[in-house]
Amino acid sequence: MIEKIEEYLAEVKNFVTRDKNEIEQFRIKFNGKKGILNDIFARFKEVPNDQKKEFGQKINTLKQAVAQKLDELKTFSETSAVLEKEDLTRPGFPLELGSRHPINLVRNKIVDIFKSIGFAVADGPEIEDDWHNFTALNLPEYHPARDMQDTFFIEQNPDILLRTHTSSVQIRYMENHKPPIRILAPGRVFRNEAVSARSHCIFHQIEGLYIDENVSFADLKQTIQFFTTELFGKSKIRMRPSYFPFTEPSAEVDVYWGLNSETDYRITKGTGWLEIMGCGMVDPAVLKNVNIDPDQYSGYAFGMGIERIVMLLYQMGDIRMFFENDIRMLDQFKSL
Ligand code: DAH
Repeated sequence: MIEKIEEYLAEVKNFVTRDKNEIEQFRIKFNGKKGILNDIFARFKEVPNDQKKEFGQKINTLKQAVAQKLDELKTFSETSAVLEKEDLTRPGFPLELGSRHPINLVRNKIVDIFKSIGFAVADGPEIEDDWHNFTALNLPEYHPARDMQDTFFIEQNPDILLRTHTSSVQIRYMENHKPPIRILAPGRVFRNEAVSARSHCIFHQIEGLYIDENVSFADLKQTIQFFTTELFGKSKIRMRPSYFPFTEPSAEVDVYWGLNSETDYRITKGTGWLEIMGCGMVDPAVLKNVNIDPDQYSGYAFGMGIERIVMLLYQMGDIRMFFENDIRMLDQFKSL
């Protein structure tokens, strides 16, 4: 008898099906009126007294096993019924993945290039005072160069304004750090300009500043050459004399883009050259304004507009596209 119950136990444990009829047959076989469990219970009285205890335990185990199995089979068949109705091969909901804004993509590229040669990223406020945006940069009140940066003023006397360039971060950083200084300051800037395909009242710049002992113009040129090679794959550059109040001497940098295609002709106006940034050796007057001794230290600075570079790299013809948030434009940068 005991062996027979062990056999039933194994049979119950191994039984699987999703089929409702088979489950019902299984139930009748073990739990039915004339089923195995009732049969065994009926024969319980035939069992010798000394075996009754062990036998009783075995029957209970079998009874529980049957009940548990029926429970399992029921849930199993119900869930499979649900699953059979669902098409599990159907694609999921379209989860739209966003993309980085092209301005951030290019900003990150530029930051990475300068990071690889020891520049750190610095930050400054977009709402500035006159000192950091103009005066400390050697642009005193009534200086004609202020005219080139038509400014949004927030308050006057004292003047509070939206920064017109990231050069203000140079001053903030030098006020709080001793040389050697090697920073890059990306950020948003504001100018009161009519919005058109080529200019906007909001745009982005990246400022660079390097201050140490014995920094020369040759260092500046080498650094910019490294940068243009890394970003554009072009190492031929030229520096044209220019004027910025905060650098002396000052230069504008052109990169030789080439004249290999019609687009090259168009974007370089047939010259092959493209202007990409302003730069120069930091004017000693600026160093004095932030209490850095110009006899001991020298340095260079540079500043470039990010939009212009993005438009070059991705052949975009209209600066307004950056701020329109048109998903059709932004989608194109998904894979980058
Ligand atoms: N701040 C200048 C501008 O917005 C760009 C610039 C030129 C920055 C020369 C510099 C520099 O640091 O050295 O037009």
